[in-house]
Amino acid sequence: MVIIKPDAVNRALVGEILHRFEGKGLKIIGMKMEHLTPYTLKQHYAHHQNKEFFEELINYMSSIPSILLVLEGKEVIIVVRKMIGGTLGREADPGTIRGDLSVSNQANLIHASSTPEEAREEIKRFFKEEELYNYNKMNFDWIYTKKEKE
Ligand code: CMP
Repeated sequence: MVIIKPDAVNRALVGEILHRFEGKGLKIIGMKMEHLTPYTLKQHYAHHQNKEFFEELINYMSSIPSILLVLEGKEVIIVVRKMIGGTLGREADPGTIRGDLSVSNQANLIHASSTPEEAREEIKRFFKEEELYNYNKMNFDWIYTKKEKE
Protein backbone atom coordinates (compact mmCIF):
# COMPACT_ATOMS: atom_id res chain seq x y z
CA MET A 1 0.00 0.00 0.00
CA VAL A 2 1.48 3.30 -1.14
CA ILE A 3 0.35 6.89 -0.60
CA ILE A 4 1.69 9.49 -3.01
CA LYS A 5 1.41 12.41 -0.61
CA PRO A 6 0.07 15.97 -1.03
CA ASP A 7 3.55 17.46 -1.62
CA ALA A 8 4.10 15.08 -4.57
CA VAL A 9 0.67 16.01 -6.00
CA ASN A 10 1.40 19.73 -5.54
CA ARG A 11 4.87 19.41 -7.09
CA ALA A 12 3.52 17.48 -10.11
CA LEU A 13 5.62 14.40 -9.28
CA VAL A 14 2.80 11.83 -9.48
CA GLY A 15 3.71 10.78 -13.04
CA GLU A 16 7.42 10.50 -12.20
CA ILE A 17 6.69 8.28 -9.18
CA LEU A 18 4.22 6.06 -11.05
CA HIS A 19 6.71 5.83 -13.90
CA ARG A 20 9.33 4.42 -11.53
CA PHE A 21 6.97 1.75 -10.14
CA GLU A 22 5.73 0.76 -13.59
CA GLY A 23 9.26 0.73 -14.98
CA LYS A 24 10.40 -1.55 -12.16
CA GLY A 25 7.77 -4.06 -13.27
CA LEU A 26 5.32 -3.74 -10.38
CA LYS A 27 1.63 -4.31 -11.03
CA ILE A 28 -0.91 -1.64 -10.08
CA ILE A 29 -3.98 -3.42 -8.71
CA GLY A 30 -5.62 -0.40 -7.08
CA MET A 31 -5.32 3.34 -7.68
CA LYS A 32 -7.41 6.38 -6.76
CA MET A 33 -7.25 10.02 -5.72
CA GLU A 34 -8.63 10.86 -2.31
CA HIS A 35 -8.62 13.84 -0.02
CA LEU A 36 -7.71 12.06 3.22
CA THR A 37 -9.50 13.23 6.34
CA PRO A 38 -7.88 13.95 9.72
CA TYR A 39 -10.04 11.13 11.12
CA THR A 40 -8.58 8.49 8.76
CA LEU A 41 -5.06 9.90 9.05
CA LYS A 42 -5.14 9.78 12.84
CA GLN A 43 -5.85 6.05 12.55
CA HIS A 44 -3.20 5.58 9.88
CA TYR A 45 -0.53 7.40 11.91
CA ALA A 46 -1.75 6.28 15.37
CA HIS A 47 1.73 4.93 16.17
CA HIS A 48 3.08 8.51 15.84
CA GLN A 49 0.44 10.16 18.02
CA ASN A 50 2.87 11.03 20.80
CA LYS A 51 5.46 12.59 18.47
CA GLU A 52 5.80 16.38 18.50
CA PHE A 53 5.24 16.49 14.72
CA PHE A 54 1.93 14.56 14.85
CA GLU A 55 -0.44 17.52 14.44
CA GLU A 56 1.64 19.05 11.65
CA LEU A 57 1.77 15.65 9.92
CA ILE A 58 -2.03 15.34 10.00
CA ASN A 59 -2.43 18.92 8.68
CA TYR A 60 0.02 18.33 5.83
CA MET A 61 -1.47 14.98 4.87
CA SER A 62 -5.02 16.36 4.88
CA SER A 63 -4.15 19.62 3.05
CA ILE A 64 -4.98 18.47 -0.52
CA PRO A 65 -5.76 15.06 -2.12
CA SER A 66 -3.29 12.18 -2.25
CA ILE A 67 -2.96 9.28 -4.70
CA LEU A 68 -3.53 5.86 -3.14
CA LEU A 69 -1.97 2.81 -4.73
CA VAL A 70 -1.90 -0.91 -4.16
CA LEU A 71 1.05 -2.58 -5.87
CA GLU A 72 1.73 -6.24 -6.45
CA GLY A 73 4.94 -8.12 -7.26
CA LYS A 74 7.38 -10.59 -5.80
CA GLU A 75 8.62 -9.32 -2.40
CA VAL A 76 6.84 -6.09 -3.28
CA ILE A 77 7.14 -4.50 0.18
CA ILE A 78 10.94 -4.86 0.25
CA VAL A 79 11.22 -3.68 -3.36
CA VAL A 80 9.06 -0.59 -2.80
CA ARG A 81 10.76 0.37 0.49
CA LYS A 82 14.16 0.21 -1.28
CA MET A 83 12.86 2.35 -4.15
CA ILE A 84 11.50 4.95 -1.72
CA GLY A 85 14.62 5.39 0.43
CA GLY A 86 14.95 6.60 4.03
CA THR A 87 12.44 8.92 5.72
CA LEU A 88 14.68 11.99 5.74
CA GLY A 89 14.92 13.23 2.15
CA ARG A 90 18.26 14.94 2.72
CA GLU A 91 19.86 11.68 3.80
CA ALA A 92 17.99 9.22 1.57
CA ASP A 93 20.22 7.43 -0.94
CA PRO A 94 20.54 8.93 -4.43
CA GLY A 95 18.58 6.82 -6.89
CA THR A 96 15.66 6.47 -4.48
CA ILE A 97 12.46 8.50 -4.85
CA ARG A 98 13.06 10.49 -1.66
CA GLY A 99 16.82 10.71 -2.28
CA ASP A 100 16.33 12.16 -5.75
CA LEU A 101 13.27 14.33 -5.23
CA SER A 102 12.95 15.47 -1.60
CA VAL A 103 14.94 17.23 1.13
CA SER A 104 12.47 17.19 4.02
CA ASN A 105 11.66 14.79 6.85
CA GLN A 106 7.93 15.57 6.66
CA ALA A 107 7.33 16.42 3.01
CA ASN A 108 8.92 13.20 1.84
CA LEU A 109 6.54 12.56 -1.07
CA ILE A 110 5.45 9.03 -0.34
CA HIS A 111 4.42 6.49 2.26
CA ALA A 112 4.67 2.72 1.88
CA SER A 113 3.67 -0.13 4.18
CA SER A 114 6.63 -1.67 5.94
CA THR A 115 5.31 -5.18 6.71
CA PRO A 116 2.72 -7.56 5.20
CA GLU A 117 0.51 -7.11 8.31
CA GLU A 118 0.68 -3.32 8.01
CA ALA A 119 -0.07 -3.57 4.27
CA ARG A 120 -3.17 -5.71 4.92
CA GLU A 121 -4.41 -3.27 7.55
CA GLU A 122 -3.74 -0.21 5.36
CA ILE A 123 -5.33 -1.70 2.24
CA LYS A 124 -8.45 -2.43 4.29
CA ARG A 125 -8.42 1.14 5.62
CA PHE A 126 -8.15 2.83 2.24
CA PHE A 127 -9.71 0.47 -0.34
CA LYS A 128 -12.97 -1.38 -0.77
CA GLU A 129 -12.66 -4.91 -2.11
CA GLU A 130 -14.28 -3.92 -5.44
CA GLU A 131 -11.63 -1.22 -5.94
CA LEU A 132 -8.87 -3.83 -6.27
CA TYR A 133 -8.39 -5.50 -9.64
CA ASN A 134 -7.21 -9.00 -10.41
CA TYR A 135 -6.00 -9.10 -14.01
CA ASN A 136 -3.39 -10.73 -16.15
CA LYS A 137 -0.43 -8.37 -16.61
CA MET A 138 0.94 -9.44 -19.97
CA ASN A 139 4.55 -8.39 -19.44
CA PHE A 140 4.97 -10.39 -16.21
CA ASP A 141 6.25 -13.19 -18.49
CA TRP A 142 9.20 -10.91 -19.35
CA ILE A 143 9.73 -9.64 -15.81
CA TYR A 144 9.78 -12.88 -13.78
CA THR A 145 10.88 -16.44 -14.43
CA LYS A 146 8.24 -19.16 -14.20
CA LYS A 147 9.53 -20.10 -10.75
CA GLU A 148 9.45 -16.50 -9.51
CA LYS A 149 5.83 -16.20 -10.58
CA GLU A 150 4.70 -19.21 -8.49
P1 CMP B 1 5.84 8.17 6.52
O1 CMP B 1 6.67 7.11 5.90
O2 CMP B 1 4.50 8.43 5.94
O3 CMP B 1 5.68 7.86 8.09
C1 CMP B 1 5.45 8.84 9.06
C2 CMP B 1 5.60 10.23 8.51
O4 CMP B 1 5.83 11.23 9.49
C3 CMP B 1 6.83 10.29 7.62
O5 CMP B 1 6.65 9.56 6.45
C4 CMP B 1 6.99 11.80 7.47
O6 CMP B 1 6.08 12.37 6.53
C5 CMP B 1 6.61 12.26 8.88
N1 CMP B 1 7.80 12.48 9.74
C6 CMP B 1 8.69 11.54 10.15
N2 CMP B 1 9.63 12.11 10.93
C7 CMP B 1 9.31 13.43 11.03
C8 CMP B 1 9.89 14.54 11.71
N3 CMP B 1 10.98 14.41 12.45
N4 CMP B 1 9.29 15.75 11.58
C9 CMP B 1 8.18 15.89 10.83
N5 CMP B 1 7.59 14.87 10.16
C10 CMP B 1 8.15 13.66 10.25
